[in-house]
Amino acid sequence: MRVLVFDSAELAARRVAGEVLAALREKPDLVLGLATGSTPIGVYAELIRAHRTEGIDFSRVRTFNLDEYLDLPATHEQSYRHFMDRYLFSGINVPPSQIHFPPSEGSDLLERCREYEEDIRRTGGIDIQILGIGSNGHIGFNEPTSSLASRTRVKTLTDKTLRDNSRFYRGGEEPPQLACTMGIGTILEAKKVILQAFGAKKADAVRAAVEGPVSSFCPGSALQLHPDVSFCLDHESASKLSLREYHRRVLENEERLRHRL
Ligand code: GLP
Repeated sequence: MRVLVFDSAELAARRVAGEVLAALREKPDLVLGLATGSTPIGVYAELIRAHRTEGIDFSRVRTFNLDEYLDLPATHEQSYRHFMDRYLFSGINVPPSQIHFPPSEGSDLLERCREYEEDIRRTGGIDIQILGIGSNGHIGFNEPTSSLASRTRVKTLTDKTLRDNSRFYRGGEEPPQLACTMGIGTILEAKKVILQAFGAKKADAVRAAVEGPVSSFCPGSALQLHPDVSFCLDHESASKLSLREYHRRVLENEERLRHRL
């Protein structure tokens, strides 16, 4: 696990976007796993900037979003589809036919969840999965007690998540209680995982994910089983890590050894 602590969320976003762009140079038909929430917005802004100012081409990129609320039409302001259009897709040239979301309306949901997994597999798998983390440790919408081997399916959201997300809803409107999400097993199959977390309200979840036991009670802790995962943090979200100083030295040594690896 790489734990990188940045002086600001902006610096972290620039670094993460840099990794995505480097991978895109190597593989123009990169398969990206994408997250919503306030955390990845900086990365998406950097990707848009690279497209606009450097002409970076996303026309062969395939994207798979982590999750979507059930029965929220794509036109609803709070749907993740709407979020992605607003913060990323409208600013880069990825063709709509190469953008994928888990099923969120209609029937046969389980069968369509299986097809979503199959669609991911057919592309050769997700090259880079961008993640955030909920204050209760969830990744995607895999809430505490989600099976560590889970696949794409419908989940009931916890009260904590409903409370955290209610800030986005106007007075009177109830946030959806159900969502369709890639499973933890699905996420663990991505070739590279980059989780970002910023602010003091994420410090407990980050500590449990990085230093806690691997437990379904903190879904983020499952990432300890992944061979190529980076936690990109700011000082606040890293504040409860007992090995903060050690992580800093690891990175210094990585830098020093770069030309020999
Ligand atoms: C939602 C999403 C998660 C995201 C989390 C954190 O619950 N399903 O994928 O990581 O929110 O959101 P934020 O980045 O706004 O803190």
